[in-house]
Amino acid sequence: MERFTAEVADLDKNLIAVLGSDNHLIQEVSRYIVESGGKRVRPLITLLVGKSLGAKREDFLDFATSVELIHTASLMHDDVVDFGETRRGKKTVFYLWGANVSVLMGDFIVSRAYNLIAMRNRLDLLREFVFSVEMMAEGELIQLSHRGNVNMRVNQYYQIIDRKTGALFRLAFIIVPLYLQKDELVAYLSDAGIAIGRAFQIIDDIIDYTTPGEILGKDRFKDFYEKKPTLPLILYFQRGKSERVKELWSGEGIDGEEVAKLVEDMEREGVFDQARQIARQQTLTALDKITFLPDGEGKEQLKALLEVLTGRIS
Ligand code: IPE
Ligand code: IPE
Ligand code: MG
Ligand code: MG
Repeated sequence: MERFTAEVADLDKNLIAVLGSDNHLIQEVSRYIVESGGKRVRPLITLLVGKSLGAKREDFLDFATSVELIHTASLMHDDVVDFGETRRGKKTVFYLWGANVSVLMGDFIVSRAYNLIAMRNRLDLLREFVFSVEMMAEGELIQLSHRGNVNMRVNQYYQIIDRKTGALFRLAFIIVPLYLQKDELVAYLSDAGIAIGRAFQIIDDIIDYTTPGEILGKDRFKDFYEKKPTLPLILYFQRGKSERVKELWSGEGIDGEEVAKLVEDMEREGVFDQARQIARQQTLTALDKITFLPDGEGKEQLKALLEVLTGRIS
């Protein structure tokens, strides 16, 4: 994958600047999260859309920064919600500093992102940020309400992931054209964002089962232990296999060996391959929608980035 070193360096500098504070706890946690990296996929999308529209980097770097801030904050909240102890190959803020710091830092970071947008005096831009955060929280809440549901359907799964993941990818895609008031493009890129959000979350849900923790950089089988029905498991239910899952979920603890056996059976049933194909379809939809961007290097790099996302294993 192209590394976009210059773009990421600019972005990291801006992230640190935006999170500036006199308080040592805020400084310490901010530095920890910015330095722990992450793939920076969403802000790269914003930067590449901006590039292909010929906009000036200084005009949209703050948008990319705000998008990444919202993402970071959502992970800090998500790790409290999911009891996530490892992320990006390191201990989470939740694990090291506790739920109180992780929740409050998340709120602080979201507010800084809103501030950055509010400075533009454009209510339409701010509204899209607020709407996206609302969607993300709603998606996580709907997901919680389906905990342990062995009857979950694919359309309910999409209802969740379009909100918790798709909304922010959509925002990453549309914020620059919205700023430039290119309304038609906003509509196409909005669809691209939702589609790539689906592909991205489906892959995340596959690799939660299939990639060893050391490579994943976060805890493996987390979704199963958290009783979260995700696409691979829903496809497994569709093969009449929900009874076994129900049994495992209804006991006190969940036995690791039993989970390993179950995942082998899921593999035999072909649910991971089927889920990969579904993700691929969504990526193709996204690629189709970005054809409406002007031709050039930015668009080619964006296409390459979207291709890589679907093949990732970590
Ligand atoms: C993790 O997102 C949360 C999901 C939507 C699956 P990323 O996989 O983009 O996380 P980082 O930023 O690279 O760690
Ligand atoms: C994505 O869901 C979380 C958000 C969109 C905030 P997950 O719960 O699958 O993310 P990971 O696996 O913890 O990164
Ligand atoms: Mg999680
Ligand atoms: Mg996950």
